[in-house]
Amino acid sequence: MSAMDGAAGGEVSGQIGRLVVVGIGLIGGSLALGLKAASGCREIIGVARRQQTCDQAVGLGVVDRAVTDIAQVLPELEAGDVIFVAVPTLTVEAVFTQLKDNLPAGVTVTDGASVKGSVVAAAQNVWGEAPEFLVPGHPIAGSEQSGVTAARDDLYIAHRIILTPLENTAPAHIQRIQRMWQAVGAEVLSMPVVEHDEVLAATSHLPHVIAFGLVDTLAHDAENENIFRYAAGGFRDFTRIASSDPVMWRDIMLANRDAILKSIDLYTSNLGSLRSAIASGDSEHLMGVFTRAKAARDHFTKMLAKKAYTETMEAKEVTFIAQPGGAVNGDLRVPGDKSMSHRSIMLGSLADGVTEVEGFLEGEDALATLQSFRDMGVVIEGPVNGRVTIHGVGMHGLQAPPGPLYVGNSGTSMRLLAGLLAGQQFDTVLTGDESLSKRPMNRVANPLREMGAVVETGEEGRPPLKIRGGNALKAIDYTLLMASAQVKSCVLLAGLYADGETSTTEPAPTRDHTERMLSGFGYDVRRDGPRASLQGGGKLAACHIDVPADISSATFFMVAASIAPGSDVLLQHVGINPTRDGAINILRAMGADITLQNTREVGGEPVADIRVRYAPLKGIKIPEDQVPLAIDEFPAIFVAASCAEGETVLTGAEELRVKESDRIQAMADGLKILGVDAEPTPDGIVIQGKGASDQSAVFGGGEVDSLGDHRIAMSFAVAALRAGADIRIKHCANVATSFPNFAELARGAGMNLEVC
Ligand code: S3P
Repeated sequence: MSAMDGAAGGEVSGQIGRLVVVGIGLIGGSLALGLKAASGCREIIGVARRQQTCDQAVGLGVVDRAVTDIAQVLPELEAGDVIFVAVPTLTVEAVFTQLKDNLPAGVTVTDGASVKGSVVAAAQNVWGEAPEFLVPGHPIAGSEQSGVTAARDDLYIAHRIILTPLENTAPAHIQRIQRMWQAVGAEVLSMPVVEHDEVLAATSHLPHVIAFGLVDTLAHDAENENIFRYAAGGFRDFTRIASSDPVMWRDIMLANRDAILKSIDLYTSNLGSLRSAIASGDSEHLMGVFTRAKAARDHFTKMLAKKAYTETMEAKEVTFIAQPGGAVNGDLRVPGDKSMSHRSIMLGSLADGVTEVEGFLEGEDALATLQSFRDMGVVIEGPVNGRVTIHGVGMHGLQAPPGPLYVGNSGTSMRLLAGLLAGQQFDTVLTGDESLSKRPMNRVANPLREMGAVVETGEEGRPPLKIRGGNALKAIDYTLLMASAQVKSCVLLAGLYADGETSTTEPAPTRDHTERMLSGFGYDVRRDGPRASLQGGGKLAACHIDVPADISSATFFMVAASIAPGSDVLLQHVGINPTRDGAINILRAMGADITLQNTREVGGEPVADIRVRYAPLKGIKIPEDQVPLAIDEFPAIFVAASCAEGETVLTGAEELRVKESDRIQAMADGLKILGVDAEPTPDGIVIQGKGASDQSAVFGGGEVDSLGDHRIAMSFAVAALRAGADIRIKHCANVATSFPNFAELARGAGMNLEVC
């Protein structure tokens, strides 16, 4: 389907001439009323078979005049006029027959029938081939009411109109019809005829079959009096469309027979499976169907409200306006750890039994992983307030997804899933958003190929990833080329399906949540310094997972409190895994006042409450061994460095160039705009801190671009605490990938952040 742009072209400009509506019912009458309201045409003439309808239409002001035979008006029509055929589908041919040989040149003919194949066939029967002035169309709007009295001038506002022009349809006629519909507030799209009829069979015709059929079934029941008396909300909602015009729907069924039969067969087979599940008490099957259906319906509701399921960069433009000054104070709990949330869904799905997760991050990235497993047949309840229940299917229980798995902005989803999917029996395709589509994937594709997997990437090793199923994997002993937990995890997860012992050796410690969580699920992972090994062919046992708050999200508030005089925050229940604590170490080395309280272990992960109070910072040379331990925290650390006294130098961090954006360049560009001397180097940055002990502004105001990178966006928002004027940050929608309630929490703590 493609959207048609609104540009006028050819001879068509301004309003259309006359509109002749053949069939003055709900659909035709509403176009007439809408065009009248929009002053979109010169005159409206109605055509109805019965004089009474004509009188009624004129009386109601729907048309200016009406006739019972179109032949009466054809001679007076001229170029620029439009005939809208809005009669039941199978009557269209009779109308075309009347038009044949009598239609003045330059008049456009269009229609509103719900089946386009039969309209094209009718045109071919009458004219030999569909004429260039015929623009088949279908307004996706209506109601169960019918007749001229149901017509409304706002029926088409914000509704879609699908045009199915043919090869020889003249562009000028298409544009005229497009403009006519736009005049009544509709959005016009175009689609091939066959595709239109298949889509409508599934989305409109099948629901009508079911509604008519259900009401008829109940109406025949001896108890129907009672059934109808007690049938409330659900019945009423579900069967509203069974009040629709029977002739119109009879025609649609006959005209779109093959596509409708296909939809009915698919539905019948699904209904059969539901019946068996109910009969055998298969609660899991029922939960599977119901949770998937609920997720899909909720998604659809958001789409209708013009909100994407995951409100991604493309879908929504968000700008942060961070006002200068302020401090951060209070007790805060930032959302759950992103890395652990991903892994909880992956391992929970492959486990035997039911895994309960608490503290799950309801951000787009982790939700993309969750949706992928739902697409592969796993029943997952929630998330509701961070709680997720995963009905594991066992190591070999995943099913082929119905299409490519779309993981949005999430590199972790794509790279870890690649490992798991390499071990499945079915083929999969992994795709992502614009940012992810630029990120390197050979780092996972290459070791997987060494294991015997068949993995194709896009150009230059970028997504999409196409993974062929059904290949036996062999264990490898893999030395990582870069310090990457995603690569390590990918290889280990593929190793679960490999024959023998798979090992990874990393050049520097990276986050070890995969190893820890595998152990938590009862899988034996041997660890020896930089080396992790596991034997393929084992099983995972369901467990309970308490996901701590994400130290990467907490870092924004650690930096905020460190740079803003008067700050004192307590960040609750934060994961302080030693492979993730680089930001604490680096900020402390810069002089930050950070204390860990109530240190404890939760589900195999160390956790603490982190208290941070304002303290003047000084620039440092960041030790390279801290880089992998703080890999996601550098954008925020650069803001701290700008507020420190003296120079901060980062080296050994070339990985930052291939994150959600090139974070070295993006931060250097933004910092310069805000008046900080920040020089990017190939593997790091040199920042001349402006931290004056007089606590004056460090940053000037200005507009910076986060490039759709969540961490860049949040870092510049924090910078405003020490700015002299507003910082406008563009492209912030992706903050929702890792920290959906950032703005709310930041405001609650004392930052002045406006989201628009
Ligand atoms: C992650 C690993 C890191 C990190 C990312 C999450 C993980 O990526 O930047 O945000 O969950 O394994 P790399 O493995 O590419 O360093």
